[in-house]
Amino acid sequence: MTMNDLQELFVHKLAQQYYVERELVEALDEMARHTTNDRMSQGFADHREETRTQVQRLEEVFAALDRPAEARNSSVLEGLEEDRRELESRIEDDELLNMVYLNAGMMTERVEMTAYEGLTTLGEQLELGNDVQTPLESNYEEEKSAFRELETLATAKDLKSLWEQLTPS
Ligand SMILES: [Fe+2]
Repeated sequence: MTMNDLQELFVHKLAQQYYVERELVEALDEMARHTTNDRMSQGFADHREETRTQVQRLEEVFAALDRPAEARNSSVLEGLEEDRRELESRIEDDELLNMVYLNAGMMTERVEMTAYEGLTTLGEQLELGNDVQTPLESNYEEEKSAFRELETLATAKDLKSLWEQLTPS
């Protein structure tokens, strides 16, 4: 189907992000259970709960647009998930696996931050108003703080030495 205007593009991107958030509730749950690092596990579990709320906020956005909530596949997320699963199947070392989860989490948050930046920019151009923009901005803020939390973990002492071994300067 041909896409004709900015509004359709906005809804397309919104539907992809709706798919992403719903998938991530599962992925975060999986990573929270599989990591052997307590702080990471707690961090993933906390963000899973935030993500449930993010799904609801996106439903509010659909409602504000007077449209049914629809999910549309995101090949970006599928690629990230495929990458994580492939590494999981090849790695047995717990610490190395933790690094995979940390890295996967950071990449996902970056992708989500960019998605929300794109949505709010389109929303501004379309003059969609606060009913649409505020929930998107709230989600964006949560992705940013989730990213910062993971970034802190990536530089934490126990993980840092491994990180340094893996990324020789
Ligand atoms: Fe999210």
